[in-house]
Amino acid sequence: MEAKASAPGKVILFGEHAVVYGRPAIAVPVKGVRAWAKVEDSPGQTLIRALDIGKEFSLSEAPPDDPLRLAVELTLNFLEFPRATGFTITITSEIPIARGLGSGAAVSTAIVRALASYFGRELAPDEVSAIVYEVEKIYHGTPSGIDNTVIAYESPVFFIKNQKPVLFKAQKPFNIIIGDTGISSSTKEVVLWVRKRWEENKPWHEKLFDRIGEIVLSGRKAAEEGDLKRMGELMDENHRLLVELGVSCPELDHLVEAAKRAGALGAKLSGAGWGGNIIALVEEESIVQVSEALKEAGAVAILASMV
Ligand code: PMV
Repeated sequence: MEAKASAPGKVILFGEHAVVYGRPAIAVPVKGVRAWAKVEDSPGQTLIRALDIGKEFSLSEAPPDDPLRLAVELTLNFLEFPRATGFTITITSEIPIARGLGSGAAVSTAIVRALASYFGRELAPDEVSAIVYEVEKIYHGTPSGIDNTVIAYESPVFFIKNQKPVLFKAQKPFNIIIGDTGISSSTKEVVLWVRKRWEENKPWHEKLFDRIGEIVLSGRKAAEEGDLKRMGELMDENHRLLVELGVSCPELDHLVEAAKRAGALGAKLSGAGWGGNIIALVEEESIVQVSEALKEAGAVAILASMV
């Protein structure tokens, strides 16, 4: 018996960080990069093979908080411990790690789905998302839940912590270009740093998060009305606020400026910051120009994605 599943990457269009403090955010799947999991019979043993990161171990050997082990155990738990003589899960992923593209949540989602399918079950997106959220806590500490949600639903989401996500559709498809600074960044660390600063000056941070929240509402309206020019302006404004928050870095700012100069409608860092990716909103005719400008400005990888 064999079962396979995959899950996409994601980017945050508007609202990162503020979403941890109860404001809305918008995230979209990046379907061009995916993580896969394959489950096969292997009588007498239960193995996890993560080929890209050179890991292979039996389930019981891994530390209890190993994210791969946890994804498997939480799924088996959810499925009420189906009987099996042993299986091997092989994981592969083309989603860059630690760049704000949701690689951890995508790997977990692929594992949950493949394992459920191996046992003849198909889980609903909210069930998958809830299991993956538990694993996300290991990667992120205090995740808002946006990554597991957008990846499990594989749809643009308007997300508020602890609320049912609203799936929405832009009035017309739009193109984003993702440019990678090449700098790995730990979401957990950045989120913790913001938390410390918030504790030191709550009123200032709350005001800033309110402003980001307003951008998210306007961003959703602009996407639903197909107003790309407005969406671009709002992305620029969101980036300025993230700079004020202290989560950008010179490399991110440099890529944002390069994208804008080359004709992007808007650009911002995406994800936790201090590295990782920028996203730029572009019209069809400027995709090549903006991609080249990003490369010249030092982006180590470029990905164009249609939403
Ligand atoms: O996983 P990342 O790097 O895209 O960051 C998630 C976005 C944050 O708002 C910074 C954290 C969270 O849990 O929502």
